[in-house]
Amino acid sequence: MIIVLDFGGQYNQLIARRVRESNVYCEVHPYTLSVDKIREMAPKGIILTGGPNSVFEENAALCDKELFELGIPVLGICYGAQTMAHVLGGKVATAPVSEYGKTTLDVDTKAKLFKEVRGTSICWMSHTDYIAEMPDSFKNIARTENCPVAGMCDEEKNLYAVQFHPEVVHTEEGTKILRNFVLDICGCKAEWKMESFVETTIENLRKKIGKGRVLCALSGGVDSSVAAVLLSKAVGEQLTCVFVDHGLLRKNEGDEVEAVFGPSGPYKLNFIRVNAQERFYEKLKGVTEPEKKRKIIGEEFIRVFEEEAKKIGAVDFLGQGTIYPDVIESGLGKSATIKSHHNVGGLPDYVDFKEIVEPLRMLFKDEVRAAGLKLGIPEHLVFRQPFPGPGLGIRIIGEVTADKVRMVQDADAIFREEVARAGWNTKISQYYAALTNMRSVGVMGDGRTYDYAVALRAVITSDFMTAEAAPLPFELLQKVTDRIVNEVKGVNRVLYDCTSKPPATIELE
Ligand code: XMP
Repeated sequence: MIIVLDFGGQYNQLIARRVRESNVYCEVHPYTLSVDKIREMAPKGIILTGGPNSVFEENAALCDKELFELGIPVLGICYGAQTMAHVLGGKVATAPVSEYGKTTLDVDTKAKLFKEVRGTSICWMSHTDYIAEMPDSFKNIARTENCPVAGMCDEEKNLYAVQFHPEVVHTEEGTKILRNFVLDICGCKAEWKMESFVETTIENLRKKIGKGRVLCALSGGVDSSVAAVLLSKAVGEQLTCVFVDHGLLRKNEGDEVEAVFGPSGPYKLNFIRVNAQERFYEKLKGVTEPEKKRKIIGEEFIRVFEEEAKKIGAVDFLGQGTIYPDVIESGLGKSATIKSHHNVGGLPDYVDFKEIVEPLRMLFKDEVRAAGLKLGIPEHLVFRQPFPGPGLGIRIIGEVTADKVRMVQDADAIFREEVARAGWNTKISQYYAALTNMRSVGVMGDGRTYDYAVALRAVITSDFMTAEAAPLPFELLQKVTDRIVNEVKGVNRVLYDCTSKPPATIELE
């Protein structure tokens, strides 16, 4: 195992990701993790990340000198490199010229860290301070035009530092450098595979939970599903999963989730499905403002969940499917404790449980999917497109009613079916039908209609922060349109949303 000590830099997730890509298990911890704890955890190596601070600021985030005396290899990156230099007696100063972006790097190819690395390549820099003087026993092993110590090491003590960011793709030799550290210098065996994650996680959950009771909110989304199955494998009967059907799910979704996780499914979970449709529709009656709708749905979800928790009683742990990108507090010494983040559609963050268990806390989305497959969760659940917590509530413009939910569910089911039939489901990131609040005149048979317009939305995106409308073939759109106006009562027009994000968002509300 490699421990990444997080000093709050923006690329820290990437470091963990690159280590994992070398099939080495790695955990990210706040830089305040004590040396005693590290000794106890016995990692094969430690990586100090970048961070926004400056070592000579008052109350600067620094690590303990003892960390470098454990005999465990350490690699400092950017601020991590400066911290190492500062703590070991070198000198860090404001660089006369700051470096940002792609920079030419020269390295000593004889250094262990740069084994098989090209002597000259491009690296990614992002710093205003630099190492002005190295600690005594260190050797300079890399430089750029404006950074004389872009890399240094004390090979005898296995201490290494680089000013640039090997974890960023723009650093051409970055992956090789990190592999050299993790595999050659730390001696990790590259054996970490999803099987071992699943096994060790189940074992650790067992130890942690003991004989306690766990409650888990299950939405049917990939994260909460994988978390629930892991927990169930760990503690079986001690786990209860609560699935709240708020009446704003996609067509047949409630039954599909129940079929997999309910009593007749393969997992034998204590599964409680709460059919709260009417309750949500009642609360949403007459409400048209998007934020108000979101708040009502979120709050009602919490109330239902709390009521169920009370009925079960004496629950010690709350299980959650929080994944690594959801973990925003890991750095800067904030301990990630009970009132941590939640990612399941509006769970309370003031929950009254002894502790929260988050078995996926260290995983990225694609790793969660891999774990899901290993656990035998069906592919259609594992590769589900994202679905927002407030569900169809934010895909129905204006007031939500049961009849509008029916229309949007039916139209959406047709759209998804035809997209899949045409083989576009694997090419687009998210797609759905929404119900606009617009009614317009049409003619059907010999009669006039005055019905709703459905909006189709399909986007391509990698991070969901920006997105482009998918160029779906016109024949496909036409087929979907024909089917929707023919099969969905109350709809007489279909529109395709061609707007990017920005300026639009992916969801309509
Ligand atoms: P927007 O509409 O903001 O959506 O462009 C970006 C991504 O986030 C999803 N989304 C949500 N997910 N709860 C969620 O769990 C929400 O309230 C929520 N709102 C938007 C959206 O589906 C898209 O993938």
